[in-house]
Amino acid sequence: MQKTLSNLSATAAVLVLLASLSSVSTLASECQLEITGNDMMQYNTAELIVPKGCTDVSLTLTHVGKLANNIMGHNWVLTTDADFQAVAMAGMGAGLEKHYVPQDDARVLASTDVVGGGESTTITFNVEALSADGKYVFFCSFPGHWGVMKGILKLSS
Ligand code: CO
Repeated sequence: MQKTLSNLSATAAVLVLLASLSSVSTLASECQLEITGNDMMQYNTAELIVPKGCTDVSLTLTHVGKLANNIMGHNWVLTTDADFQAVAMAGMGAGLEKHYVPQDDARVLASTDVVGGGESTTITFNVEALSADGKYVFFCSFPGHWGVMKGILKLSS
């Protein structure tokens, strides 16, 4: 009887461990965002929502068009709404080799490389410092794109 009870509690402990492992992996997969850009200078969405409980978020940008990155390049840059226009302007001066992103600029909360048609890029960034009621804008900083290729990133409340 003693042995059965201890086996049972060992089984219970394993089940609890498995349950917690599985909830961690579910959460990690929910913290993956995806967006595409095309040859028409468009993202496929104007809103991205970070699920509740995410600390690190991975974002994958896929260019589903065919044009090269120096003609119709796309990236994904995250700033506050207040910093968006100034960072977009500064990005133009950074040039393609710097992915049109101002370097060492704290206003840039996250940014990807510039990709061309058929290419994809993934970044991981931490969202713990973002505020649930903050206004965050994502945009493509390729010259001439940010007026159209932009959207809102929200933290799920
Ligand atoms: Co673009």
